[in-house]
Amino acid sequence: MKIGIDQIGMYTPDFFIDLRELATVRGVAPDKFTIGIGQDQQAVAPSSQDAVTMGAAAAQSLLGAIDREQLGLVVLGTESGVDASKAGALQIIRLLDLPAHVRAMEIKEACYGGTAGLMMARDYVAAHPTKQALVIASDVARYGLATAGEVTQGAGAVAMLVKANPRILVINDDSVVHAEDIGDFWRPVYTDQALARGKYSTEQYLHFFDLVWQQYQAETSLTLNDFTALTFHLPYTKMGLKALRQVLPSVDATKQAALLKHFDQSIQYSRRIGNIYTGSLYLGLLSLLELDHLPAGSRLGLFSYGSGAVGEFFSAELVSGYEQALRPAAHAELLDQRRQLSITEYEAVFNDAVPYAKADYQSNSAYYAGPFVLTGVQGQERQYQVNPNA
Ligand code: CAA
Repeated sequence: MKIGIDQIGMYTPDFFIDLRELATVRGVAPDKFTIGIGQDQQAVAPSSQDAVTMGAAAAQSLLGAIDREQLGLVVLGTESGVDASKAGALQIIRLLDLPAHVRAMEIKEACYGGTAGLMMARDYVAAHPTKQALVIASDVARYGLATAGEVTQGAGAVAMLVKANPRILVINDDSVVHAEDIGDFWRPVYTDQALARGKYSTEQYLHFFDLVWQQYQAETSLTLNDFTALTFHLPYTKMGLKALRQVLPSVDATKQAALLKHFDQSIQYSRRIGNIYTGSLYLGLLSLLELDHLPAGSRLGLFSYGSGAVGEFFSAELVSGYEQALRPAAHAELLDQRRQLSITEYEAVFNDAVPYAKADYQSNSAYYAGPFVLTGVQGQERQYQVNPNA
């Protein structure tokens, strides 16, 4: 049975900053951000947007394709979850009026949470072939103003409908995984800002990719020549490029050029949005599918990395007619209609975060945008609703 992604959609907040402007204000050469890091713009989430509102917005675009009777699993992969106990998937179910007869949960393992959800969904459909699963990867990446990680922030979500005989991508049953307890990146429960051993994390990303890629080739007898394109978790686009460059010497110059060209298409959305943690790999996949027009039957390789850390490599194949199931025009509009914030305005928005405190909080309605908003916190409970300004 062929199982995979039948629908895929994305959401990113209405606000962004230009990273050349950020570089200038921070006293950094702009080329460091655009070339050295490989990012042009960065999505900015006001406090009315979080993993729940963005996840619901991304999933909303798939609603027409969901068979409500057959939907049995709703998984939110996130590492910027807003409650230490309750799954954000439950608030998403309410916001989208999804049926109650579903298993609903939240998965955490840093940026690997989206892939963990996707693989759980794949296994679920393999066990229940008529069923469907909704997988949502949604995050706000925050390191703090004027930190080394600031240039690698971002915000957004990707939602995927997983079922048998999918219209877009068949996920092959060939995953190779490596898990190990390391301290490259983490977020204590009392803060919304991540901590990272930056250079070490980049080394570990490359090391984990090397481990699973070598093992994958040994187990499958496939080589780089068997892949049309590789896509990567993109904490920043240069990170994916470093990983690709690590394996390029195994193929001839023509193949190297082709892989680099496809990689360039896969990073276009991320260059404008930044890191969306759990959804970053799938934002890269979406960018590749919508901008590159690869032939049906193309074999893609996907590398997922979640700090802490888990690395997974697997392959997938494009289904005939997959273009008809994509929404490139809607995604281009989503990106093009965003409002640019000055760096001063971005800093004010960044500092107006939901506090880690018992007091009530109200989000700034001047920044309400998108289909759903967090209006605030009352009695220590987050309040979500349809955006009254939409
Ligand atoms: N023009 C062009 N390039 C320039 C330049 C200029 N004027 N000045 C510097 N550069 C280049 C540097 O040569 C370097 O390139 P290489 O990596 O190819 O050598 C690049 O810009 C970055 O420079 P630095 O290494 O000096 O950057 P930094 O010390 O400021 O930190 C970072 C970079 C470690 C990625 C930091 O932003 C960070 O800590 N980010 C958060 C952690 C992270 O994203 N880690 C990624 C792996 S972990 C993961 O994948 C999970 C996840 O999502 C977080």
